[in-house]
Amino acid sequence: MLIIKNRQELSDFVQSIRAKQLTLGFVPTMGALHEGHLSLIKRSIEGNQYTLCSIFVNPTQFNNPTDLEKYPRTEQEDIRKLESAGCDAVYIPGVNDLYPQGLENDFTDMGGLDSVMEGAFRPGHFQGMATVVKRLLMQAQPTRAYFGEKDFQQLQIIRKMVKDEKLPVEIIGVPIVREESGLALSSRNMRLSPDFKEKSVMIYQTLVKAKELASQLPPRQIIPIIEQIYSHSDLKLEYFTLVEEEDLRTFDDFEKGKHYRAFVAAFAGEIRLIDNIQIR
Ligand code: PAF
Repeated sequence: MLIIKNRQELSDFVQSIRAKQLTLGFVPTMGALHEGHLSLIKRSIEGNQYTLCSIFVNPTQFNNPTDLEKYPRTEQEDIRKLESAGCDAVYIPGVNDLYPQGLENDFTDMGGLDSVMEGAFRPGHFQGMATVVKRLLMQAQPTRAYFGEKDFQQLQIIRKMVKDEKLPVEIIGVPIVREESGLALSSRNMRLSPDFKEKSVMIYQTLVKAKELASQLPPRQIIPIIEQIYSHSDLKLEYFTLVEEEDLRTFDDFEKGKHYRAFVAAFAGEIRLIDNIQIR
């Protein structure tokens, strides 16, 4: 596997792919790779002649400096995992390769998609995320780019950004990978105590419960039932909400032909976990 350390080396790699007219699949990550990331790599390998992954812990998307500091960095292990997954190349840029003029954001308003759910609790997060994704896509010039549905709001914001900016790339969403217990894979899970890891299984269970209820009840009746479950648990609920998939807005009643998702953010001790499920 080719290890690309800076923007110039990436440009050489991209030119060689384009000269041969090969398709390039791209999987941007912040490292600490787990089976969820590897499922994106697998999809990219299946759908493209070349697969490139990037590892960059993007400072502009952390609204909390402690979170940035504590973000797991496991570069050597990540490289080994990518190699055995069959990835062709990994781009591990420095801050200057992506932010040559300093840590600024390219986006301010993201059409409301950035102000709900994660956006409401993590101000500036999506502006920083969209900034780095746009810059990575412009540098890597992939045919397709792959993002997990675990961060579904991120995925929808990227889709909108790519459309608005007219970037010539196909964005592919890949389903969440879960442990046998139902817990969604996340780089944060490695920071959970065994006790909280067991308790966190309720996150998926409450999503499944909301999905069951969605066949009988409107959202305004479902949400209090789920909130009640959290109030009797050891997890601290930040939000539980049901929204329409396309615009991420809350709604009064389910309509035929539209898709809806339940979203949750909860603290298991110090660790903030998110998850979602399509309910209709
Ligand atoms: O989902 C992530 O890991 C990050 O938000 C991304 C898309 C790599 C941008 O930094």
